[in-house]
Amino acid sequence: MAGLRLAGVIGDPVAHSKSPLIHNTWLKRAGLPGLYAPLRATAETFEAVVETGWAMGFVGFNVTIPHKERAYRLVDRLTPSAEAAGAVNTLWRDSDGGVVGDNSDGFGFLENLKAGADGWEPDGRSAVILGAGGAARAVAAALLAAGVERLTVANRTAARAEAIAAMDPERARAAAWPPEPSAFEAADLIVNATSLGMVGQPPFDLALPPLGPRVLATDLIYAPLDTPFLQAAAAAGARTVDGLGMLLHQARPGFARWFGVAPTVDAALRDAVLTGEGCLP
Ligand code: ATR
Repeated sequence: MAGLRLAGVIGDPVAHSKSPLIHNTWLKRAGLPGLYAPLRATAETFEAVVETGWAMGFVGFNVTIPHKERAYRLVDRLTPSAEAAGAVNTLWRDSDGGVVGDNSDGFGFLENLKAGADGWEPDGRSAVILGAGGAARAVAAALLAAGVERLTVANRTAARAEAIAAMDPERARAAAWPPEPSAFEAADLIVNATSLGMVGQPPFDLALPPLGPRVLATDLIYAPLDTPFLQAAAAAGARTVDGLGMLLHQARPGFARWFGVAPTVDAALRDAVLTGEGCLP
């Protein structure tokens, strides 16, 4: 078909990725002739899959587990958020053909809080992140760039928490694991960026002190949607925002670049992703 635009998500495993459903729903809504495909690539084939995709005329890619750091090293240019996160989840080509790597996880994280908690903004707030993996790093970078006053990172492996805190020694610090109740003092935002509580992973079993409705709690896990961390935070009196919106919002920058239309995250998209199977709407 003339003008058919192709994009896709590269990962391993990738068959269960929700990204094809999100992007193909937006393509259908916009009436655009395009297709967004799941593309499996191993460590051995990742670069060949990207190269072949460009050669086939793909307009861009998302990159997911386990290739985000590899993609970071592959691109010609990095956006500031990719630079800070040390990982790339979105690829497009500049007008001169150079490959640009972006990281939209932090954008998706902040947009999800804005949409889910009455326009919540990080400026001047105090945040606690539990966990210090790749997702935690992207969230930390976004919170710091958006003006948090204080950032506390607690992680089982202290060196990873310290590496994130080193991004901004003035405002960020590493805390002990498991975190003491005092680590949550004055927190406006608590983020679970560990895999604890995810389907198939160990349970989330940290005790949270009383929090109250000033505190916003959010989980990067969206399977299950109502995670043990969110349940514990709600029981401690906090407001909660689930993690599905981060997935939906992080998809927006790539779609806008590749297809030239700014897509919308709404309840219908959320329902489609929650109930949908396969990759076509
Ligand atoms: P991602 O890139 O998605 O963030 P990751 O790098 O595997 O994934 O990070 C998983 C996070 O969950 C890490 O912070 C990890 O702690 P470590 O850095 O010590 O590995 C945390 N995590 C996983 N299992 C855990 C457990 N049983 N107890 C405490 N933390 C755990």
